[in-house]
Amino acid sequence: MNQQGRSVAKLEEIPPGESRVVTLEGQEVAVFNVEGRLYAVGNRCPHRGGPLSRGHLEGTAIRCPIHGWLFDLESGQCINRPQSSVPAYSVSRENGNLCVKP
Ligand code: FES
Repeated sequence: MNQQGRSVAKLEEIPPGESRVVTLEGQEVAVFNVEGRLYAVGNRCPHRGGPLSRGHLEGTAIRCPIHGWLFDLESGQCINRPQSSVPAYSVSRENGNLCVKP
């Protein structure tokens, strides 16, 4: 890992509107491309472990595919259950690679 974080994917592997699960320090991280902006949050919903990478994007939020909790992709905060959250990671681009940093 360098200062920008760990290289996890090529930019073209995650087109706008799509996501991909990567592993960072043993944790599943879901990386999303929202109209060219990149976000990364923990993949496991804190409710019952639903895979957020397979959820539904609503602007810059992701809705869990299991019971519908909604998470802000910027902060990881759960919008409809404010006591809950998932980790949010910073994503940068470096020479066509996506780097994720805890
Ligand atoms: S597992 Fe995500 S809302 Fe229930």
